Amino acid sequence: MANMELSTIIWLVFVPVCIAIVSTTKIARRRHRTTRRSLPPPPMATGAPLIGILPALLAKGPLQVIRDAHAEMGSVFMVRLLHRKVAFLVGPEVSSHFYQGLDSEISQDEVSRFTIPTFGPSVAFDVDFATRREQFRFFGDAMKPAKLRTYAGLMVREVEEYFARWGQSGTVDLKHELEHLVTLVASRCLFGEEVRSKMLGEVATHLRELNDGMRLVTILFPHLPTPAHRRRDMARARLGEIFSDIVRSRKAACNNSVGRRDAHVDDVLQCLIDSRYKSGRRTTDTEVVGMLVSALFAGQHTSSSTGTWTGARLLARENAGHLRAAVREQERIVARHGDRVDYEVLLEMETLRCSVKETLRLHPPAMVLLRHARRSFVVRSREGEEYEVPEGCTVASPLVVHHRLPYVYGDPERYDPGRFRVPAARREDDEAGAGASAFAYTAFGGGRHACVGEAFAYMQIKVIWSHLLRNFEMEMVSPFPETDWNVVMPGPKGKVMVSYKRRTISAAA
Ligand code: HEM
Repeated sequence: MANMELSTIIWLVFVPVCIAIVSTTKIARRRHRTTRRSLPPPPMATGAPLIGILPALLAKGPLQVIRDAHAEMGSVFMVRLLHRKVAFLVGPEVSSHFYQGLDSEISQDEVSRFTIPTFGPSVAFDVDFATRREQFRFFGDAMKPAKLRTYAGLMVREVEEYFARWGQSGTVDLKHELEHLVTLVASRCLFGEEVRSKMLGEVATHLRELNDGMRLVTILFPHLPTPAHRRRDMARARLGEIFSDIVRSRKAACNNSVGRRDAHVDDVLQCLIDSRYKSGRRTTDTEVVGMLVSALFAGQHTSSSTGTWTGARLLARENAGHLRAAVREQERIVARHGDRVDYEVLLEMETLRCSVKETLRLHPPAMVLLRHARRSFVVRSREGEEYEVPEGCTVASPLVVHHRLPYVYGDPERYDPGRFRVPAARREDDEAGAGASAFAYTAFGGGRHACVGEAFAYMQIKVIWSHLLRNFEMEMVSPFPETDWNVVMPGPKGKVMVSYKRRTISAAA
C-alpha cells in the first residue's frame, strides 16, 4: 500500500513535470523559429528579370561574377539563376552548416541528380542516402592505408614504365600525357590487369567523353539533347558493357580458384565485389560497375588536372625557387633511400605535398560545391549581419573565391607552397595537412562529405612528380594556361607544352 502511494505520488509529480518541460521546450522552439522567421534573407544580387545573373555569367564567367558579388555584398549573398535562388557562403566563418549540417537539413541529393546520367543506375545519386553512404564506405575501405601501401607499388611501376617510353629529349603536351598516365595508374589500382589491355584506347576515350558531357548547362538540364550529352550517354553505355564483362570474368575466375591463396587479387574491384551492406546483402554487378565508373570519374580528371597545374606552377619562370626546392628535396630523399619509392618514402616528400596542396588552393577542380536547404537556417555573416537562408534554395560554397580570401591567405594570388609547411611532428599521415582553420581549405570538401580519395590522389600525383623531378629537366614552352570554365570541373585550357631532357639527379646530403 505504502509502495502504491509512493508510486502514485511519483507519477503525480513526474508526469506534470515532464509535460511542462516538453511544452516549454516546444514553445521555446516555436519562439526560436518565429525569431528566425523574422530575420531577413541574404541580400540578392541584381540581375535581369526572369533569367537573373545568366547574362553576367555568360559575359564575365563564373569566377568574376562571384568575386564581384562578394566584393559588393559581403560573405553571404544570393543570386537568381533562371528558376533557382542560390545562396553563396564565402569564407570559413559562414561555412560550418554547409559542411557539417545533417543531410536531413542541407543535402546533396537535389543538387547532384544531374550526375545520374554520368555515374549510371544503382549508385551515387540514383540511390537513397543510406545506400549511398554505404557505397562510399566501400570506397573508403578500399582506400585505407594498408591498401594504399599496395597501390603505391603499383603506381610506381606504372609511372616508371610510362616515362621509360619518353626519349632522351623532346617536347610534349603535359596535359595530354598526364591524362593518359592517370588513367593507366587508376586502371592498375582499380582493376588490375584485366582492363590494362583495353585501357589505352577505348576506356580513356570514354572517360574523356563523360567529363566533357558534364558542362555548366548539365547542372540545370542534364538531359538536354546536346551533342556532348549524346556522346556522354553513348560513352556511359559502352563503359557499362566493358566493366560488366570484367566483373563477370573476375567473379568466374574467383569461383574457379576457391581456396588457392595465390589467386587472391588486391585491387579496388575485388574490394567492391567482396563488400557487404550492413544488411548482409552483396553488391550487385550493376552496382559494382557503377561504383567503378564513379571512382574513375571522381579521380581521373581531378587528379590529372591537378598534376598538370602542379607542373605549370612549378615550371612557371617566377616559381624557379619553388622548383629548385622540390628538386633538392628529391636529392635528399635519394641520399637517404636510393631509388626506392614506396608508401613510407612518399610520406617524406613534404615540399612536394605542399606544392600540390598550394596548386589545389589556386586551381580546385571542384570550383563550387552545392547543397539544397531542406530547412531554412540562420547564418551570421563575417560582417556581423544575421540572415535566414530560406528553405528550398540552393546553397553554394565557391572554392574559387573561398581559397583566395586575403584575410585567410596573405597575398592570395601568389603561388607559395611554404604557407602549408607543417613541422614534421604535427604532420598527419593521411596527407590532409594543416589549413588556416576549419573549412578555410576545402579542395577535398570537408565535414560530412569529405573526399574519400584524398590520400590516393596525393599519392598518385607525388609518384608522378617525384619521378619527373628526378629524371627530367623540364621547361614550359607555352604560356601559362588559362582555365576552362565551361565544364563543371574546370581544368587547364588548351595544350601545356613542355620540353624535357633526361638527367640523373645527384644524391644530396
Ligand atoms: C585531386 C583529386 C581529387 C579532388 C580535388 C577531389 C575533390 C572532392 C571534393 C571537393 C569532394 C566533396 C564534394 C562535396 O562536398 O560536394 C569529394 C568527394 C568525394 N570524392 Fe573526391 N576528389 C579527388 C579525388 C578522388 C578520388 C581519387 C576518389 C576515388 C574514389 C574520390 C572519391 C570521392 C567520393 C566517393 C566523394 C564523396 C564523399 C561523400 O560524399 O561522402 N575523389 N572529392
